[in-house]
Amino acid sequence: MKKVLFAASESVPFIKTGGLADVVGSLPKCFDKRYFDVRVIMPKYMSIPKEFKDQMKYLTHFYIDLAWRSQYVGILEMEYEGIQFYFIDNEYYFSGPKPYGDIYSDIEKFSFFSKAALAALPAIGFQPDIIHCHDWQTGLIPVFMKERFREGEFFAGMKSVMTIHNLKFQGVWDVKSIKDMTGLPEYFFTPDKLEAYQNANLLKGGLVFADAITTVSNTYAEEIKMPFYGEGLDGLMRARANDLRGILNGIDYEEYNPETDSCIDFPYNAVDFRKEKIKNKRALQAELGLEQNDKKFMIGIVSRLTDQKGFDLIAYVMDELCRDDVQIVILGTGEDRYENMFRHFDWKYGNKVSANIYYSEELSHKIYASADAFLMPSLFEPCGLSQLMSLRYGTIPIVRETGGLKDTVDPYNEYESTGTGFSFSNYNAHEMLRTIRYAHSIYQNKKREWNKMIDRAMAADFSWHTSAMKYQELYDWLVG
Ligand code: ADP
Ligand code: GLC
Repeated sequence: MKKVLFAASESVPFIKTGGLADVVGSLPKCFDKRYFDVRVIMPKYMSIPKEFKDQMKYLTHFYIDLAWRSQYVGILEMEYEGIQFYFIDNEYYFSGPKPYGDIYSDIEKFSFFSKAALAALPAIGFQPDIIHCHDWQTGLIPVFMKERFREGEFFAGMKSVMTIHNLKFQGVWDVKSIKDMTGLPEYFFTPDKLEAYQNANLLKGGLVFADAITTVSNTYAEEIKMPFYGEGLDGLMRARANDLRGILNGIDYEEYNPETDSCIDFPYNAVDFRKEKIKNKRALQAELGLEQNDKKFMIGIVSRLTDQKGFDLIAYVMDELCRDDVQIVILGTGEDRYENMFRHFDWKYGNKVSANIYYSEELSHKIYASADAFLMPSLFEPCGLSQLMSLRYGTIPIVRETGGLKDTVDPYNEYESTGTGFSFSNYNAHEMLRTIRYAHSIYQNKKREWNKMIDRAMAADFSWHTSAMKYQELYDWLVG
């Protein structure tokens, strides 16, 4: 039996700001339980819903040093859907309204979490063979494993994997502060270790010291070796190319299932969608105050509102797009400029555009089920889960060919009648608009073709099955 510990800053159902939480919450369930015991450790945020906090059981507590402070580490546990979760409790760090705040505090918060997660293991008696770290928040774990946790039997031979969900976020601050905060010696702060461009970089530490590196699609694994996508670490990605592999994300096919989804009003499946799916569109049009009309081409967007997601392209051609016979439904939160942009277009084109600037699991499912197409014109996209959810619900994705979008959406070919969506390659607003209009024309004039595309989309399999096996192979390769 191989023992694996996932360390991450978010996981469904406890806390979620993006796809990372979906991955950490759904992947552990998909390993072969006969051979793998996969558990998860994460912070116990104040903002975790009370129903879960009430179920957590106190295990133990102790203190660790961080910077000049001695910090309390409480450990709680809870089993959820067969997976053992551990929570690190510390009110000083984890009591904010959201998991992330300003970057400086976050760096200290997650340095604490990384050290505490390692220190917790002997205390709870779980000795993993592999610690699987996710994103910059856990970048110091492989570093600490090579430093203070190196000695003694307990950590000897323990391996680490670092998964990049988004290379853009690295946890960067000045060397002196990070040295003080982590207690790591001078030795670690050189350009071949934690230092990058005169600063200290937590993710870089993880990428240098981890035994293996993965990212969440093959295309992104290639892209990040190039300057445009490499976020300043492309040299390191090239240097570690042999230890870097792309393993595509999946989604939870139980949770995202149009046949059993309790968030949607009219369940449907791959057989009856021609009759049933439209009922969800009607219901959503009514709920959001859009024109009640089956024929309107409804485009959905569910997203963090950041420049990663290509909103500059949308801003550029939104007026042109709104002259077409379309409806646009947005659900998202993020940067003020994008929130305000969508509020503005909602005001300007009231019965065509619905901007929902908040977070709602329920509305997100309704959009995946109701829209005709789903727009995701990302500037870069390590994997992307929203397009997988759309495919699962027979909502045709329109995407830019980057990262995981390229690997999961097969562009429509009208001559061969293949494909599950539409895509364009350059980061160019009119190329996007042309692609949307092409999709619209198929929707309007070739309904049978469109429905056959839905057949293919719903038949595509992006459950975790295949990818979980690839992680298992990686674990087997690391610890024989
Ligand atoms: P990223 O992780 O970059 O944000 P992904 O496509 O991997 O992008 O995952 C986004 C996840 O967050 C999806 O599950 C999506 O449905 C969800 N999501 C994003 N914004 C919202 C929102 N405002 N309300 C509900 N769910 C959202
Ligand atoms: C990141 C990426 C997204 C990916 C998710 C889960 O948030 O932006 O593309 O799907 O992580 O791996």
